[in-house]
Formats: sequence, structure tokens, C-alpha cells
Amino acid sequence: ESASRARLCLFVVQAWQDAGLVLSTSSNEACKLFDAVLTQYATWTNNESLGGIEECLSKLKAADPNFTMGHVLANGLELIGTGRSVRLDRELGSAVTAMVALSKAQPLTERERLHVSALDVFARGQLPKACELWEQILQSHPTDLLALKFSHDTYFYLGYQRQMRDSVARVYPFWTPDVPLSSYVKGYYSFGLVETNLYDRAEKVAHEALAINQTDAWSVHTIAHVNEMKAEVEKGLKFMKETEKNWKSSDMLACHNYWHWALYYIEKGEYEAALTIYDKHIAPVCLASGSILDIVDNCSMLYRLHLEGVKLGDRWNDLLGVTKKHTKDHILLFNDVHYLMSFLGAKDHKTTEELLTTLQELARAPHEDHQLSLAPHLGLPLCQAFVEFENGNCDKAVDLLYPIRYELVQVGGSDAQRDVFSLLLIHAALNSKSETKRNLARCLLHERDLLRPKSPMTERLIRKAAAVHSMA
Ligand SMILES: *[C@@H]1O[C@H](CO)[C@@H](O)[C@H](O)[C@H]1NC(C)=O
Ligand SMILES: *[C@@H]1O[C@H](CO)[C@@H](O)[C@H](O)[C@H]1NC(C)=O
Ligand SMILES: *[C@@H]1O[C@H](CO)[C@@H](O)[C@H](O)[C@H]1NC(C)=O
Ligand SMILES: *[C@@H]1O[C@H](CO)[C@@H](O)[C@H](O)[C@H]1NC(C)=O
Ligand SMILES: [Fe+2]
Repeated sequence: ESASRARLCLFVVQAWQDAGLVLSTSSNEACKLFDAVLTQYATWTNNESLGGIEECLSKLKAADPNFTMGHVLANGLELIGTGRSVRLDRELGSAVTAMVALSKAQPLTERERLHVSALDVFARGQLPKACELWEQILQSHPTDLLALKFSHDTYFYLGYQRQMRDSVARVYPFWTPDVPLSSYVKGYYSFGLVETNLYDRAEKVAHEALAINQTDAWSVHTIAHVNEMKAEVEKGLKFMKETEKNWKSSDMLACHNYWHWALYYIEKGEYEAALTIYDKHIAPVCLASGSILDIVDNCSMLYRLHLEGVKLGDRWNDLLGVTKKHTKDHILLFNDVHYLMSFLGAKDHKTTEELLTTLQELARAPHEDHQLSLAPHLGLPLCQAFVEFENGNCDKAVDLLYPIRYELVQVGGSDAQRDVFSLLLIHAALNSKSETKRNLARCLLHERDLLRPKSPMTERLIRKAAAVHSMA
């Protein structure tokens, strides 16, 4: 009874306490707004009737400016967004400092203190350490949705695929149907399953979640991945079309689901259809949102079309308008390399150079920053490979990319997203001057074909490789 009420009304002070998740504030309004923001984050949806995340956060701050978990929520969403760098953005830096100071001046629960520490270390670039602290919370508070979702997203950035799956598994039994948003936890679990190649189970769990709530855009997204990984193009297209009405208003994920939809068209070689989705659903939304996931998708989609030899018109220059301001961010290597794709696409040599030199400089002294510590042997060679490929030095691109390909998972993102790196390697090898490297291209294509049988794109590339070979 109390749970079904909780699903309709928002949690007040007492309700959080009853759920074992004490919030240190006396303001019921602050608690309700905390719940409203958390729900919107967990479901990837700004709910207009609640005012959207941004409005809720400013009302939350007004309801109780001293509410530490309110600061945790606001700062956490900024940091997890990966669009603002604590190094360059003093406003964000001082917000984190203020949160830590506030927490020290108050009696808080252990759980709340751990949340503060997790964000403090996240802000310093210690992403694995932040995950350890969230895990510590989850061991005693398995229904702490904020800790669960923050760690889920951070494991994703770290490329810690098994941790992303097992972290949810460890708390799974506590998410009984009466706990609000429990079906969404099935969705998180299903994504961990797909990223650890357990496709059939992933699909089953995602369908269970969708049977409970069909507007769950993340569970839809899992199924999009399963179809992508199995090259089930027609099934994938049908599923996206049939479910579009359910997820298109999940504004924080819709653009990414459209990106997956467009990938099926690229796979089929139907470039116009892919560009139509891009122009209609990806580009305009991305421009408005400024969300990093949307920007990265924009870059990745155009780059895949570019590898296929599709003419892209002014699209690269338009994209440069939003990526350029992130040149010196260096928050995630995954983001950096995607911004770089747009600089190269727009042939902006100066910005390309600026991204590389600022990254090289930071990589010399990464201190405690996990991502920067990966820059010398992963991030920089990866970026350099794109540059060499664009300069026509295909052999050089292969030399840079081939030795690190099995380690690239550490730059994070999903298998489907990182596939653009595999495609770059194949295209570079195919166009190499050396026969050894052209042979490598054929080998890589055999590998791809066995893993993802009946992929139309692989078949096109195999035909191309055969043609290149017979010409040589
Ligand atoms: C928005 O929030 C209201 C109030 O909690 C809820 O009734 C409604 O279902 C939500 N809408 C969406 C699309 O989540
Ligand atoms: C917040 O805390 C400060 C310092 O303890 C106190 O002076 C101030 O009155 C508090 N503000 C509210 C709105 O509770
Ligand atoms: C699905 O979840 C959303 C977001 O919490 C909620 O607004 C909606 O009412 C739920 N629908 C069902 C059928 O439970
Ligand atoms: C995506 O590309 C389109 C142009 O094709 C552009 O209008 C839009 O601004 C881009 N969006 C982002 C976020 O880069
Ligand atoms: Fe995805």
C-alpha cells in the first residue's frame, strides 16, 4: 500500500526514513524535489509536469539551501554529464568545494557522507575510487537508487563492463515489485548483460522491464544493442519503429535511441535513410540539448558515414559549432576522440592541434586523474590514428591502432559505440600501401564476420577487400 502510494506521490521526509534512506533535512518540499529529480534522472526523462530537472534543482536549493544531498544531486548530475571540467570551470569546482564544506558542518548519516566523498573523488578524476564508495553504500543500502545509477554510469565511462552488470546483480533481490522504479533496475541489469555478451538474457530481462513499464527508454536501448550486436537489422528496425511512441519523449535518451536506429540503415547501406534520421531527430535535438551523449552521437554517426564515403555537406561545420568549446576539456578520452572526429571532418587543423597538444601536456602529469593516466598509451595513439588516417597515412594509422585494439575498452562507452574504432582500423588497413596490412584487413573482416554473421556492412567490406587484393 505504501509503495503504490509512493509511486503516485513523491517521497517526503518520513517516507525516505521508512525506506531506510534517511535524508538530513526537515523540509518535506526538499525531499519531494529530491525524489522528483532522482526519478527523472533514473528514467532519462525530463518530466514537464514536474518542471524538468533543472527547475526542480533550483526549487530544491531554495527549499533548503543547507540540504547536503540536494548539493550531491546537483553536483553529481553535472559531473556525470561530463560536459563541464572541474579543471577549467571554476563555478563547478567551487560548488563541489561548498558541498564538501557543508557536509563537514552538519551531522549527517554515514550514507550521505559517502555520497559526498564519492563526488569529491570523482571531481578529481578518480572514477574507480568513486565507484568503490558507491558500492560501499549499496552494500548497506541496496535500494539507494542514486548510488546505483551513478555507479552504473561511471562503470560505463570506465569500460568496466562486468562491474556494470554485477553491481546491479548484487542488489537485484532487494528491488521487489513494490519498490518504486524497480522495473527500471531490470533495465540497468539488462544493459550490463548485453555489454558482457549475454544477449539472450539481456533481451529477456529488458522485455520483462518493458512489460511493466513500456516507456522505459533504457530497456528499449538494451534491445537496440542486442539487435546491433547480432546484426539483426530488420528486427532492429521493426522494434524501433514499433516502440518509438513510447520512448521518444524520454528526452535524455531519445537522441541516442535514434542514433541506434540510424546505425541499422548504415549497416544496410541505406545512407539517405540514416541521414534523414540524423537531420530530423539527432541534429536538431542535439543542438538544443548540448548534452555530451548527444554530441558524441552526432560525431560518431557522421564519422561512420564518412568512412562509408558518404558526402556530408555542411554537417561537419555545424557540428564544429558545438564541439569546439570542448577542445581543452579532457574529461573523458572517449569524448575527446569524438570531438576530434568533428575537427577532422571540418578540416579544422588548428583545433585538431590544440586538442592534441593540450592532451599531451596534461598526460605528462596525470596526478590522480584516471582518464589522463590512460592518455599516453591509449588516448593519444587513438587520436593520432584518426589524424594519420585523415592525412592519408593509412599504414601509420594501422601501426598506432592495431597494438591497442584490445585495450580500447578502457576508454569506456559501449561495444556498439567503440565499433567506430574497429571500423577505422579496417578501413585504414584496407587502404594501406603495404600488402601485409591489406592482408590484415581481410583477417579482421573474417573475425568480424564470425562474430556478427550476415552483417551487410561486413559483406560490403569483404567485397572491397577482395577487389583491393586482386588489383595489387
Ligand atoms: C510526470 O510526473 C507526474 C507526477 O509525478 C506523473 O504522474 C507522470 O506520469 C509523469 N510523466 C511521465 C511522462 O513520466
Ligand atoms: C544554513 O546554515 C547556516 C550555517 O549553519 C545558517 O546560518 C543558515 O541559517 C542556514 N540556512 C537555512 C535556510 O537553514
Ligand atoms: C512508467 O514510469 C514513468 C516514470 O516513472 C511513470 O511516470 C509512469 O507512470 C510509469 N507507467 C506505468 C504504467 O507504470
Ligand atoms: C549535429 O549536426 C547538425 C548538422 O548536421 C547540426 O545542425 C547540429 O548542431 C549538430 N548537433 C550537435 C550537438 O552537434
Ligand atoms: Fe547505445
